[in-house]
Amino acid sequence: MASLTDFVDLSSQSLLWSAASITFNPIFWKYVLTFSLSQYRNHFLTRIFGGAYNGCYFLAFAIFSLGILRDHLYQVALDEQPFYAPVHQPILGGALFAIGSVLVLSSMWALGVTGTYLGDYFGILMDAPVTGFPFNVTGSPMYWGSTLNFLGVALYKGKVAGLLLTAQVFVLYWFALKWEDPFTSEIYAKRERERSKKQGSKKQ
Ligand SMILES: *[C@@H]1O[C@H](CO)[C@@H](O)[C@H](O)[C@H]1NC(C)=O
Repeated sequence: MASLTDFVDLSSQSLLWSAASITFNPIFWKYVLTFSLSQYRNHFLTRIFGGAYNGCYFLAFAIFSLGILRDHLYQVALDEQPFYAPVHQPILGGALFAIGSVLVLSSMWALGVTGTYLGDYFGILMDAPVTGFPFNVTGSPMYWGSTLNFLGVALYKGKVAGLLLTAQVFVLYWFALKWEDPFTSEIYAKRERERSKKQGSKKQ
């Protein structure tokens, strides 16, 4: 009888490294978020970096680099995994990768660096919520786009291990979203309260 180990080499070191980096990235990002949240209250990071924008750009660079490392470890891991013909769907994989890339790149374009990477927590808020493409397609285009990229590569290369790692990405993003959405909403709600307070005092 066929078992999962016929299609996935679980003893591969590179598979473990890929799984570890996929887990580490959002945890680091969330750790940074928590750290930045305390900054949002006492401006600690802003002081270290000599300005909110410097601090935000520094973290953006760190998160972006970790993302590139994660993608690289994923490619290396899949290259060492056994090929399984039924999941080798290069056209579908290529199409999903293209859709995923459009979602990721267009949302970065729409949000800018500070909107993409934690600007909220440095007090760099967007003037209005971004509602145009790709945010009119999904509320979290970056997460879904990234998940589609992982899936696309797995199908393109025909690797079952890629499907497992994609499932891991999906679950981690799902938890991250549950945690992050109410958090961001609260920051903007706070600003609205402060704005209406200011307008109230202007009128008097
Ligand atoms: C999202 O916005 C884009 C650009 O404004 C538009 O072309 C597209 O049809 C919209 N999609 C949805 C699902 O509303």
